[in-house]
Amino acid sequence: MKLLDIYARMKKDIAYVERELESSVYSEHAMLKETSLHLLKAGGKRIRPVFVLLAGQFGKYDLQRLKHIAVPLELIHMASLVHDDVIDDANTRRGQLTVKSKWDNRVAMYTGDYIFAKALTVATQLSDPRIHRILSKALVELSIGEMEQIRYFFRTDQTLRNYLLRIKRKTALLIAISCQLGAVASEASDDVCDSMYAFGYNAGMAFQIRDDILDLTGTEKELGKPPGSDIRQGNITLPVLCALRDPAIRSELLAEIERIRLVDGQTDVTPFLRIIRSGTYIGEADRLSSNYIDRAIAALSGLPDIRAKRDLVQIAHFIGNRSY
Ligand code: IPE
Ligand code: IPE
Ligand code: MG
Ligand code: MG
Repeated sequence: MKLLDIYARMKKDIAYVERELESSVYSEHAMLKETSLHLLKAGGKRIRPVFVLLAGQFGKYDLQRLKHIAVPLELIHMASLVHDDVIDDANTRRGQLTVKSKWDNRVAMYTGDYIFAKALTVATQLSDPRIHRILSKALVELSIGEMEQIRYFFRTDQTLRNYLLRIKRKTALLIAISCQLGAVASEASDDVCDSMYAFGYNAGMAFQIRDDILDLTGTEKELGKPPGSDIRQGNITLPVLCALRDPAIRSELLAEIERIRLVDGQTDVTPFLRIIRSGTYIGEADRLSSNYIDRAIAALSGLPDIRAKRDLVQIAHFIGNRSY
């Protein structure tokens, strides 16, 4: 099923959040407005705000409250992408030039900070301190995750545990709290909030594993950026860790990674991609992603059988198979 079909039922509320997103980054400052809108207008799946809206349906659904969660979560995601593209030296995102490439790194750093600040401006309109605590804790973890990613660049001796902890911090937690906070802001019971968190965490882990797989298997057109971007920047992802365990190709792969490292990623990575695509490594990574999807769906088992639950299950299946 396509994401847009799942979204169709919530079209009106999503469109409302979209308008709120746009007005939230409004600035008197022409350039900040332009750089923020540049990324916003490039699109994106808006999966975090959608999770907020769906989670909110397990409590007292109130769009006027939920928008103060949905908008900041998309803004935090966007800000982290603007910064991420500086770290990754990425020239395209969502099929468009990145802020760092259309303007420069400094502009991108301040644009990211500005969007973060706008996220806080919107979130602090809700007074519940629980919401602020959950949000700030996740932001701290997100920063640690990104720093850890740098620390592990080109480290072929890293463990599966290192990888999983890193993607938990950089991706899964934000998706987990999108689900959790949607429930919290709707005054759902603690049990519901916990189930939503567990769903989001597991769906988020699968989401990043899929992202890492797509970077190795996708085409430039599908990805909105060239494939192999991760290894060019030094990011060793799950399929690569699986391949490194295979004695039949390990030394060839190590040599190829070292070759890429020595030229700082400024090289053709086709030979690397060929090695990774050759064995069963992508399939192994995919199986772990499917496990997380199963766990995400299992986390919903205690929740009432409402339409939102069926939508969450469908989005989970979308994530498990996603090609964009
Ligand atoms: C990209 O996130 C970065 C990751 C956390 C993998 P998305 O895939 O949600 O990006 P957009 O918002 O749809 O562009
Ligand atoms: C996700 O990681 C980035 C953040 C969580 C900020 P990636 O580096 O894999 O994201 P893409 O692939 O550039 O979108
Ligand atoms: Mg990146
Ligand atoms: Mg990626």
